[in-house]
Amino acid sequence: MAARLLLPRDDILNQVPASFRPFAEALLGEDDPAPGLIQLLGTLGRKTAPEEARDFALLLRRALPPSARRDRVSEVFLRESYPAWYIRAVNDRHRNAAYCAAIETAVTPRSIVLETGTGSGLFAMMAARAGATHVYTCEKDPHVAEIARLNIARNGFRDKITVLESPHEELRVGEHIPRRADILLHEFVASHFMVKEIPKIISRLRNELLTDDAVLLPSRFSAIGKLIGDPWPLDLVRVPDTVEGLDVSAINILEVADVSLPGPVTIETPLSAPVTLADFDPCADDAPTTDRVVEIEATGSGAASGLLQWVRYEFPDGSVYENRPDLACHWWPYFWPFANAVPVRAGDRLPLKILCSETEVFIDLVTDSRDD
Ligand SMILES: C[S@@+](CC[C@H](N)C(=O)[O-])C[C@H]1O[C@@H](n2cnc3c(N)ncnc32)[C@H](O)[C@@H]1O
Repeated sequence: MAARLLLPRDDILNQVPASFRPFAEALLGEDDPAPGLIQLLGTLGRKTAPEEARDFALLLRRALPPSARRDRVSEVFLRESYPAWYIRAVNDRHRNAAYCAAIETAVTPRSIVLETGTGSGLFAMMAARAGATHVYTCEKDPHVAEIARLNIARNGFRDKITVLESPHEELRVGEHIPRRADILLHEFVASHFMVKEIPKIISRLRNELLTDDAVLLPSRFSAIGKLIGDPWPLDLVRVPDTVEGLDVSAINILEVADVSLPGPVTIETPLSAPVTLADFDPCADDAPTTDRVVEIEATGSGAASGLLQWVRYEFPDGSVYENRPDLACHWWPYFWPFANAVPVRAGDRLPLKILCSETEVFIDLVTDSRDD
């Protein structure tokens, strides 16, 4: 039996990327084009430009009825552009609750809201539902902008929300938004805690797109760390001296500096309380965080294998979002392994280097042999 197409054939054909078009045209003439179109993606997708393969994969997800084969073949070409956190973010109820409370407190019927990075459109819709005059939200990816528009239409907010298909860097008052916005919704900080770049971005938004007293949601960020004695995260980072009696340690040249751990993670041997490693108000004039040393006090005894690190967003109404290891959040906490386990007793103070690049923090022990 012919598989139903979810879009008219001509609409599909108009959207097929150029390299796929001659083959797709022939296949769309068949009674059941679905198997052939999926196979076309699988074979030609590997040989053609990644953007064309991605666009064709997305088109097949919209045009063909759901099937395991459609989803598994298309996922290969979607994964790089659309990592799994697009979905995880929307399901992060801790994040959503904090943003929702902050938005409902900040928004008034006179508010013009600007959002950078629309994604699903969830936060823009929260602001519209809270009664904003209008929400302008920008999304640099045209496919994601289209997805947000669908969600916005489904929820009846088409008149209240404008999705601007543009990077926020290109937005101008008078051209994209009618006047400066009173509220900025953003989500610039991930677990890697982009440090020096954010004040520059916020400063440009404040100078060009926001009112003088605009409210930023969130308004403050911190990187939080906790010393742990659990050895198991080390298995995600490097191999021991021998495995099954064989020395395979040459593979350790591929060690990465840090590992993200999907929460919730149970810590069997916590060795400190959570400690603020770096924090900043993105509206402050100076890049707020420079490289520094922070001491972390052990609260228990054991061999410290490394540090778990996550981020904290604060909102003006007092709402807080933290991707703490004991919660299931879309940003995963990081494990920063020490080169060698460090024996500690309660009351010991371990010095940690907090190195801030333009885009990330790096954390290590000051006494570490890799210290430089
Ligand atoms: C963390 S997601 C936003 C998730 C969204 N708040 C939600 O709940 O679905 C970030 C979004 O910002 C977009 N983005 C990244 N850089 C951007 C930029 N410079 N200008 C506009 N959008 C950007 C990405 O394509 C992505 O869709």
